[in-house]
Amino acid sequence: MQKKIIRKWWKEGVVYQIYPRSFQDTTGNGIGDLQGIIQRLDYIESLGVDIIWLNPVYESPNDDNGYDISNYRNILKAFGSMADFDELLAGMKERGLKLVMDLVVNHTSDEHQWFQESKKSRDNAYRDYYHWWPAEKGTPPKRWSYFDVDSNAWKYDETTDAYYLHYFAVKQPDLNWENSKVRQAVYDLMRFWFDKGVDGFRMDVISFISKDIEFPELPTAYNGKFIPFYSNGPKLHEYLHEMNQTVLSNYDVMTVGEAPGVTIDQALQFVDEDREELNMFFHFDLMELDRAHGQPFLMASELWKLTKFKKIHSDWDAVFSEKGWGSMFLNNHDFPRTVSRWGNDSRTHWFNSATMLQTFLLTMRGTPYFYYGEEIGMTNIRFDNITDYQDINTLNRYKIAQQNNDDLETFIENEKDASRDNARTPMQWNTNEYSGFSVVKPWLKVNTNYEEGINVASQEGKKNSVLNYFRKMVQVRKDQLTLIYGSYQLLLRSNEEVYAYLRTLGKEKCLVLLSFSTQKTYIKIDEIEFKKVTLLISNDEVYETNQVNTFELMPYQACVYKLS
Ligand code: NOJ
Repeated sequence: MQKKIIRKWWKEGVVYQIYPRSFQDTTGNGIGDLQGIIQRLDYIESLGVDIIWLNPVYESPNDDNGYDISNYRNILKAFGSMADFDELLAGMKERGLKLVMDLVVNHTSDEHQWFQESKKSRDNAYRDYYHWWPAEKGTPPKRWSYFDVDSNAWKYDETTDAYYLHYFAVKQPDLNWENSKVRQAVYDLMRFWFDKGVDGFRMDVISFISKDIEFPELPTAYNGKFIPFYSNGPKLHEYLHEMNQTVLSNYDVMTVGEAPGVTIDQALQFVDEDREELNMFFHFDLMELDRAHGQPFLMASELWKLTKFKKIHSDWDAVFSEKGWGSMFLNNHDFPRTVSRWGNDSRTHWFNSATMLQTFLLTMRGTPYFYYGEEIGMTNIRFDNITDYQDINTLNRYKIAQQNNDDLETFIENEKDASRDNARTPMQWNTNEYSGFSVVKPWLKVNTNYEEGINVASQEGKKNSVLNYFRKMVQVRKDQLTLIYGSYQLLLRSNEEVYAYLRTLGKEKCLVLLSFSTQKTYIKIDEIEFKKVTLLISNDEVYETNQVNTFELMPYQACVYKLS
């Protein structure tokens, strides 16, 4: 049965994510800023994308690059001012671009006024804005922290002889959502941005906001595997529904929750339209595919398999086949670069694999999210030296590795593939020093391959560039409603080299063929019938064969056909 189509701008739009710190510096301090984004709006518009998701730009001591917010209603000075923000928003509206902000409300910075008050005394008016465990109750039950040198999510604070909870860094105390004042304060700040004209929120670790505030001891089975537990708090859906009814439903906005730990059988609880919670969320099944089981930052020892990659996407497509809507991404500021991770960034295969992966995101059902630089095929930087890394996650785990006397070379080898800094290097604009990102040494090293064609200016002028392919492919998606709303059928399920699928909307059919192989491949599609194929786009030369259903694909070739 064909799914009933409910058209929405956030289903049809292509998202472009910007990590502001790394996009464009205009003040000469080595850090990107809002004026830099303003300067680049024409470029962004030229890509054909519709929605910008901006990583946090709020006031922050930057312990976790802005995910530790000290004031939700101010702009970080290094990024500019509220006037710059308003100018950015106006410039976007002029160009028909929508703006999605990051909403970080599982935690604040410890420098937020709420926490400063909360820690003063046990009877402070803000005490219950956070989770405190009085020391007289003994040591609190084990909770794991992502960014703590002792992996301990409880931090003792002597002022009030109590521990506070921080799932992330010690400077990121978790908010207490049980407190209705906290929830109202969050809804207020959301209204503040919506009333300015912002078009939506990407909600940081939103699956973690509800906690069992009894903080029971957990079975040892949880050791090292806290994420599924954190994402299943008892009142999560109550809060999301309340947020929807109190704020979201009053605006035409888009919401996408970041939902680590949420499993496929829980998916519809978030996005079934009748439940009135969120529009979409990011699941992490793909992001775990090449990681050691239950260990989000450790690369698995064996290579990932294409059949598993296909299964993840096919299963997730199926779950939204009647209700809800998916979101498609291959990288972001927390994960290594797409082409290095899922493609092949060697000179021979870089072009085809970068464009093949763009084709993938733009031919699947679900809103596609691209991360700055993905449109020009930016790659992992693979730092050899710990002194080059800036990310709190890598730096803390390095300390842990030192404490444990682990082999530090092995640690660095892992980070070359896993570190978030791979995805955070400055945008590569041209062949000037520092790739046109800044006139001074940037906060994080620029990848030197900007000198070898991985930069915007060089690719602008080349017909066959990753950048120009991206623009063309975005247009192909826009021209074919089938690629947005059509149903999805996996073909060649057990083939380990080619990912093939059919998208169908009414009588319209599109066939997508994606090679993930370094070799030429030959395939025969006999699961479906068709008489004629018309090529819509390919990133390589297309070889005609005598039979309509057999295809020859070059390494990492992508082909999108219309069938009749
Ligand atoms: C998820 C964000 O994407 C990541 O960058 C951040 O470190 C954590 N949440 C904590 O806010």
